Amino acid sequence: MTGEDSTEGEGVVRRDRFSGGPARSFLSSLAADERIFAADLAVDRAHVVMLAEQGIVESETAGEILTALDAVEVDGHGSLPDGEDVHEAIETAVIERVGRDGGKMHTARSRNDEVATCIRYRFREDVLEALEATIGLREALCEVAETHTETVMPGYTHLQPAQPITVAHWACSYEEAVRRDTERLLEAYARINQSPLGAAAFAGTTFDIDRERTAELLGFDSVLANSMDASSSRDFLLETTQALSTLATTLSGLAEDVILFANRGFVDLSDDYSSTSSIMPQKKNPDTLELVRAIAGDAAGGVQGLTTTLKGLPRAYNRDLQRATPHAWETVDDVTDATEVAAGAVASADWNAETLAAEAGAGFSTATGVADLLAANGLPFRTAHELVAHAAQRAAGRANGETVSNGSDYDALEAASREVLDDPLEDHVDPAAVEAALDPVESVASRNSQGGPAPEAVAAQLESAEDAVGADETQVGELRDDLEAASAALREEVNAYV
Ligand code: ARG
Repeated sequence: MTGEDSTEGEGVVRRDRFSGGPARSFLSSLAADERIFAADLAVDRAHVVMLAEQGIVESETAGEILTALDAVEVDGHGSLPDGEDVHEAIETAVIERVGRDGGKMHTARSRNDEVATCIRYRFREDVLEALEATIGLREALCEVAETHTETVMPGYTHLQPAQPITVAHWACSYEEAVRRDTERLLEAYARINQSPLGAAAFAGTTFDIDRERTAELLGFDSVLANSMDASSSRDFLLETTQALSTLATTLSGLAEDVILFANRGFVDLSDDYSSTSSIMPQKKNPDTLELVRAIAGDAAGGVQGLTTTLKGLPRAYNRDLQRATPHAWETVDDVTDATEVAAGAVASADWNAETLAAEAGAGFSTATGVADLLAANGLPFRTAHELVAHAAQRAAGRANGETVSNGSDYDALEAASREVLDDPLEDHVDPAAVEAALDPVESVASRNSQGGPAPEAVAAQLESAEDAVGADETQVGELRDDLEAASAALREEVNAYV
């Protein structure tokens, strides 16, 4: 398009000098901006309503612009005229409908504060969805805990059976971790929910605008005070993406656990969350959880991309910022999906209580409890540890078929006692208490310290988990209600003009 062509007639935007050229598509964010199409319309509406209220734009013109915005909305993002971005394209579409006066929409603002506002406006919705997903996952974990308070299972360190726990204790451990992910996202949300609108390019405006009013119309909690910070800061994207990446890291551990448990026959994944092999008909693979595990990598990549883009950017606006936003979009989409899938996989899985019980005491996993018992009966803990270590070695040898000596873990302890203390075991401890300590169910029940796996200790954890889920659900629900109320109120204001 040449300058001459674009000067024809009322209503044609004259950005002619810069409107063509080989870098046009390189510069354009119009396609990616589809995500903020609705946000931009809301921001435009709030801004125009404020301009009219302040007497900066006549009510009649405001009405024409707002009517045009409704028509642009109906036509959709796909019908926008060409433009460097959605902000320019919507403005052009408004001018096409209203004539030159449509250009009054852009009084007292810049695309810099406009885009920053649009990103925050849209990101709030996305983060609310992510928050809801964390709450759904926590609910699923609480349900598992509720059902399996008594279901013993082996607990692992270094992938080796370490001490028996319960499925509920395991589930509550992840609920507590994801609870912190919810908290981090809520904290980030509070900082997203501030309005940059009215900062203009970065240095404010000569017009008598009302920034508090546009913030209110768009449902923001407050106004970002400094206009230079408002239009150029993207730390809200970074901290939220970091919080999402932390969540994804939590999810990857959860996914890995369930993959291992499925592999050991402890848990059966529902078919909905499994895949089969295209060649090996017997296979049922935990692909969904493998993807959940992998998304931690994407999220870490998002943080890296964003950090590297933002690092060293001078004040105020630089076009690099256009490339920052998609990292956050991708991360929030991926991590929300992963959270929902993890919740579904956990909620629909079947735990094999019998297999778990049989394995719970394997590998001398009750050894710590036996050592504690000996120490409680007066042996120095170090000596108790040594004695049980000897017994465990015998038990391991027996499992490997190396020693033919008698069968039980108790027998191994008896032999170790004679070896280490030169005494029979019963000189130091009641044999019945040893048998109890060797039993996984008793072992779990005896570890009733605060936060421990004993059913009563887990019941307390579960109760606070359920309380926290309820409170967070209420808070997120209120945040959603606030956004819906703001958007309904904005519509009302607009209706007074159109
Ligand atoms: N599409 C741009 C972005 O996403 C909008 C702001 C353009 N501002 C400018 N000064 N070129 O950042």
